Amino acid sequence: MRSDIQYYNTDQLHAESPKSSLKIYQKTRVPKGLKNVPTLSFFKIVTRLLSKSGPDKRWEDVHEILEKDGIAKFWFNGEWVLLVTDLELVKDVVTKPDLYPKISFEEVFPRALITKYYGTNVVMSNGDVWRRHRRITNPAFRNLPIHVFVEYAIKLLDVMEKVDNEHIEVKSLMHRLTLDVLGKAAFGFDFNNLEKPNNVYVTTYNEVLGELSKPIYFILSYLEYICPRTEAYKKVAKLNSLYDGIVENKRQAMEMGEIDKKINSNSADLLENMIKACSDPENPTLTSTELRHNIAIFMLAGHDTTANSLATILYLLSIHKDVQKKVRDEIFRVLGDSLTPSMEQQKELKFMNMVINENLRLYPPVAQLLRRYPLQDIKFRNHVIPAKTPILLSIYGIQHSSKNWEDPERFIPERFENEKHDHYTLLSFGGGSRACLGTNFSFIEQKIILCAILRKYEVSLPADSIHKDQLQLTSSSSGTTGPHKLPLIFKRRTE
Ligand code: HEM
Repeated sequence: MRSDIQYYNTDQLHAESPKSSLKIYQKTRVPKGLKNVPTLSFFKIVTRLLSKSGPDKRWEDVHEILEKDGIAKFWFNGEWVLLVTDLELVKDVVTKPDLYPKISFEEVFPRALITKYYGTNVVMSNGDVWRRHRRITNPAFRNLPIHVFVEYAIKLLDVMEKVDNEHIEVKSLMHRLTLDVLGKAAFGFDFNNLEKPNNVYVTTYNEVLGELSKPIYFILSYLEYICPRTEAYKKVAKLNSLYDGIVENKRQAMEMGEIDKKINSNSADLLENMIKACSDPENPTLTSTELRHNIAIFMLAGHDTTANSLATILYLLSIHKDVQKKVRDEIFRVLGDSLTPSMEQQKELKFMNMVINENLRLYPPVAQLLRRYPLQDIKFRNHVIPAKTPILLSIYGIQHSSKNWEDPERFIPERFENEKHDHYTLLSFGGGSRACLGTNFSFIEQKIILCAILRKYEVSLPADSIHKDQLQLTSSSSGTTGPHKLPLIFKRRTE
């Protein structure tokens, strides 16, 4: 079959009116090759961003155009950006990371706070730098700290101990839980957010994240050069010094042979595994600052995402009581009297696996992949995408398209029974060689937590919930999507 995509190494396409003296015109004019790509409303995009609308509302705005054309353009922050759901182009972008590198924070916001905090890391880098980071981070995700998931599942039940037939706001509870899990699993630090949500480490972390996700700095990226964010910088410096201290202590522990012992007993955290990988003469190494940047990005990549996923699953189970019962029956059948599943038992939780997948399809915590730009001109159908045009792949759109999924708005876990879907129609964890490193981490964490909660509690949606007709979603500028506050009723089970 003839492909709709071809690559060009030509400057000809950019040679139209090169001497234009009007900079604004140059910035806003549509490149010739994109003239026939449908245009989305700038006003709607900005309004949705400022109001932190969920991807469902954004999909409503663009759905008709994207279902028809699979590609659309919008003007944002001084350039034309493409939003794509066409599976052929999606596959090209996902499988050719060297042709379509990610746009790093350093390129978009060179001296900004966000760059200072996340720096160069495995999520944002490209090419050989990414390969170096991935080589060190990969092994860390092979020996997952299952004991940490179990420890915090028990802690969660302790925190919920007195609850019976009461409302619990699950979004914030799941965020508290996953922050604790990630701090412990990533670098052995207990944020203690489950027991003491207002302690200094938690508030510092939340304040930093709050500062970094203020939408105004994404829309007007030059703003912080005009009004320096002194207070925010201090907060980032405080968190960075916590991470730096931990990296330094672990490096010393490595020299004393303590880390090898932990790795041998399968109790090492991700950072310890990375420090070990750095000491392998076969591997390129990461500096302490690079290790710190990776910790910061793991916290971002793994905290909100898993928390939102757990919250939306609990919502789905609360309104689909038949599914909740089926998941619970499976838990009892597979686990017997155990509170949490062993590795072997987890593989047997097949229905729960389908529920997790279907939840991630319906409510992907990352609604669109990070921006990429092609290094060459790309001919796609009758369009020519100029090199360096930012491209966004809409995960939400792909997973809610009726071209890819039958009855896409319905919750049907059984659709994953035979895993027949096209690989690129399910991108909750990204794809290709840049797919999520934490997929197993998150799946195992979710399974352990769901086992602990569901065997003890029946979960229901309050009759007066704002979510009673439809789950109300919101987005954060850090790129994750989840529900608005979500109180659910937890009734202790008696059988
Ligand atoms: C439900 C939970 C999660 C979801 C939905 C999710 C989603 C994603 C997605 C969509 C990407 C690809 C981004 C892109 O290519 O633009 C990604 C990459 C990544 N994720 Fe996750 N993630 C989750 C949990 C985690 C966890 C728990 C961790 C770590 C503790 C993690 C670490 C990473 C890393 C390191 C990458 C970058 C991989 C690379 O580029 O080489 N994620 N994730």
